[in-house]
Amino acid sequence: MEVIIKANAEEASREATAFLVRQCRNKPDSVLGLATGSTPVGLYCQLVALVQNGQLDLSQVTTFNLDEYCGLAADHPQSYAAFMRRHLFDHIRVRAWHIPDGLACDIPLHCAQYEADIAKAGGIDLQLLGLGGNGHIGFNEPGSSLQSRTRLKMLNAHTVAANARFFDLPDEVPRRVLTMGVGTILEARHCLVLATGLQKADAVAGMVEGPLCADLPASALQWHPHCTLIVDEEAASRLKRQEEYRWAYNNKPAWQHPG
Ligand code: GLP
Repeated sequence: MEVIIKANAEEASREATAFLVRQCRNKPDSVLGLATGSTPVGLYCQLVALVQNGQLDLSQVTTFNLDEYCGLAADHPQSYAAFMRRHLFDHIRVRAWHIPDGLACDIPLHCAQYEADIAKAGGIDLQLLGLGGNGHIGFNEPGSSLQSRTRLKMLNAHTVAANARFFDLPDEVPRRVLTMGVGTILEARHCLVLATGLQKADAVAGMVEGPLCADLPASALQWHPHCTLIVDEEAASRLKRQEEYRWAYNNKPAWQHPG
């Protein structure tokens, strides 16, 4: 796993944007896996600006989002579908975007179809991921099977509390979600994780330097052949081998840098 430590959240987000831009310039019909949460908001804002300035063309790109709340219609302001429209798809055109349907009647069938759609699109070239404070990726809470596929999951109290800030009342946070599984995520050809702030420091340390275990689902990315983690100083602060990561990054050949 490559660990890139940037001075602050803004620089981390800029670096992550550069990876996405390089991916889409090299392969204009890329299949991207996208994430929600506050962490990627700056990145989406930069993508929108690049497209609107004519510096980037995403019109051939297909996207698949990681997850969605169950019980929220796509036009509910706190649905992830609405989030994606607000931050990206109301502003730029892509070939097609997909997000699990929080109102699907036959959930197993819908989840199987979501997996089939990813496969039909050729699989995910680059999967963008945020990190839950408890180490979840997508909505794969601690204890999730490391081979899991897209399915219904129950959120735990930690995540409900963490996401309550987006809702008027904590009780409005849906408890059930649809999420790509850890196994689904691990099939992406490149995983790009962005994590910023002190509240992510323990999860980052566990993900990179802890044991690979279902207790911290992001640690499954240690198993991935091509994973890049971009963090700011705060999120990196509990990593033991910080200096080694910085050394490797500073000595990386120019041709390997995305920008
Ligand atoms: C939610 C999402 C995750 C996201 C996480 C972190 O639980 N399902 O995909 O990574 O929140 O969110 P934030 O970026 O707001 O810290």
